[in-house]
Amino acid sequence: MIIFKEITPLKEAILQFKSNGESIGFVPTMGALHSGHISLIKESLKNDNITLASIFVNPAQFNDQKDFEKYPVAIENDIFLLEQAKTDMLFLPSVNEIYPEGLSSPVKYGLGYLETILEGFYRPGHFQGVCRVVHRLLDIIKPDDLFLGQKDYQQCMVIRKLLTDFSIPTQLYIVPTERETSGLAMSSRNLRLSVEAKQKASVIYDALNFIKKHSADTPFTVLKGHALSMITDAGFEKIDYIEICDATTLMPFEDYNKNNKTIALAAAFIEGVRLIDNLLIN
Ligand code: PAF
Repeated sequence: MIIFKEITPLKEAILQFKSNGESIGFVPTMGALHSGHISLIKESLKNDNITLASIFVNPAQFNDQKDFEKYPVAIENDIFLLEQAKTDMLFLPSVNEIYPEGLSSPVKYGLGYLETILEGFYRPGHFQGVCRVVHRLLDIIKPDDLFLGQKDYQQCMVIRKLLTDFSIPTQLYIVPTERETSGLAMSSRNLRLSVEAKQKASVIYDALNFIKKHSADTPFTVLKGHALSMITDAGFEKIDYIEICDATTLMPFEDYNKNNKTIALAAAFIEGVRLIDNLLIN
């Protein structure tokens, strides 16, 4: 695996591959890699000639400075995992390389409703920061394909909008969530949980499955109330949301309709760690 820390040599290598007719698959990450990330790499290897991963803990997308400071860093292990998975190239830029003009940005992405609900509501400014870094990375790399995990479902919808709004000719692949055997969605944040909390945390997936199982025969308000009790009873200290939404627009649904593509989403805190998950219902 070739590792690049600077943009200029990375661009030269990409140009070389492209002039040989090779397609580029891109997997952006913030490191602390786990098998969820590796499933994105595998998907890229399947679809593209060259797979490029990036590791950049993007300060612009953390609305909470403490969360940024506590974000796990495991660069040596990350490089080992990427090499083992047969990743061709890794981009490992500094903050200065990505934001040479500093962190404050004059650009405001018009994300509309997507930015005011769910993650957007609870993490103000987060999706602006995500758009800023992904836009910058896409501009440097100009990949044929982009691979994102379904766990961050709203992020996928935001990036889909970014690609459309800026007419970026990169194809977005949303890769299904990898889970522990307990059902807990793989996440770099799980590294901050005790063994006990990690066991309890699988209740989020159980609650989403409960919603899915009963969605056709139980009012959504009742389902959300029950899911909330399940998660609280398991020991989560705070629940930001449990919502049942249109899987395309993320507008909340009141009732079940078999023709609606529907998704249940949740965000909750255990041991001070904020976990998110989602499940497609139909
Ligand atoms: O999902 C993530 O890890 C990040 O939000 C991303 C897409 C790498 C942008 O920093």
